[in-house]
Amino acid sequence: MNRIFSGIQPTGNLHLGNYLGAIRNWVALQADYDCIFCIVDLHAITQPQDPAALRNSTREVAAAYVAAGVDPDRCTIFNQSTVPGHTQLAWLLGCMTPLGWLNRMTQFKEKAGKQRDMAGLGLYSYPVLMAADILLYKATHVPVGEDQKQHLELARDIAGAFNRAYGVDYFPLPEPQILGTATRVMSLRDGTKKMSKSDPSDYSRINMTDDAETVALKIRRAKTDPLPLPDSAEGLADRPEAENLLDIYAALADRSREAVIAEFAGAQFSGFKEKLADLAVAVLGPIGAEMKRLVAAPDHVDAILARGADRANAVAAPHLAEIYETVGMLRPQHG
Ligand code: TRP
Repeated sequence: MNRIFSGIQPTGNLHLGNYLGAIRNWVALQADYDCIFCIVDLHAITQPQDPAALRNSTREVAAAYVAAGVDPDRCTIFNQSTVPGHTQLAWLLGCMTPLGWLNRMTQFKEKAGKQRDMAGLGLYSYPVLMAADILLYKATHVPVGEDQKQHLELARDIAGAFNRAYGVDYFPLPEPQILGTATRVMSLRDGTKKMSKSDPSDYSRINMTDDAETVALKIRRAKTDPLPLPDSAEGLADRPEAENLLDIYAALADRSREAVIAEFAGAQFSGFKEKLADLAVAVLGPIGAEMKRLVAAPDHVDAILARGADRANAVAAPHLAEIYETVGMLRPQHG
C-alpha cells in the first residue's frame, strides 16, 4: 500500500484554511493509504515559541485531526519530536544537501526577512528536516499546499542525491499530492492573501474553535465588493473576495463552484453571508466542540500521541538501521 506523510506545525490558531485545505482531505485519504499524520513541533521551534503555548498547540492540532475524523486506529498520529529518527536522518541528509539548493528556498527568505544573518540555522535547514520526515517512512505521497511544493521538490532532489551517492534505489521519490478537493482559503479581509494563523487580525480567519456567534460575526464583517453575486464563473474575475466566499461555501457544502454560483446568481452578499455563516457553523461547530472536549482532558490525546509514536517508530527504526548501514555507521550491538 502507498504511504502518505503530512504534517501541520503546532503554532496556534488552526483555522478554516487548515481544515478545508488539509485535514478534511486527509480523512478521505485514510481509506486508500497507509497514513502518517504528524504534528511537526521540531519545525515549530525554528521560530521562537512559548513553551506552554507550544504544548497546548501540539495537543490542539492532534485534537483537530481526531475531531475532524482522522481515525487514530487506522492512521499514525504523533508529534515529531517523540520519534528520534527525524533528527537523526535530518543530519545525514543535511550532509548531502548543497547550500545552493537551500539558498533557493523562498520560504526561508520570507521568514528570515531582512536580517538574514540573525536567522537560526534550524530555520535554514527546515526543508532538510521536512525531507527527513517524509523519507524516514519512505512515504510515496505527500499532500501539501501550493506553498510547500518547493520544499517537496527539494525532498525529491535529496532522495535522488542519496540514492546516487550510495548507488542504491532506497528512497522512493515522494510525489506531491495536490488534491482537487483541497480548497485554497483566502483571508476574509483580503481575498488575495492566504488565510493565515499569523495574520494580526483575527477577523481575517475563522478558527476551528470559534463559537457560532464569532463565526457569524466574522463572516458578516468579511470584505466584499458592492456588486451582487455573479451568474457565471467569468463574473468572478477581479473579485477575489466574492470568489473566496463562494469557494468556501462550495467546499463546506461539498458542492461544485458552478452549482453554488447558479444558486446565488444575482443575490446580495448580505443574504448569502447569512447562509454561509449557518453552513460554517453546522460544519465546524461539532468539530470545534469535540476539539475543546479533547483538549480539556489531555490524557486521552496524550495516549493517542504515545500510541502513534510507537507505531511511527516501529516503521522508522528499521529504516534508519538500513540507512546507517548504507552510510557506513557502526551500530551498537545490544545483548
Ligand atoms: N512545512 C510544512 C508546512 O508548514 C509542514 C511539514 C513539516 C510537512 N514536515 C512535513 C508537510 C512533511 C508535509 C510533509 O506546511
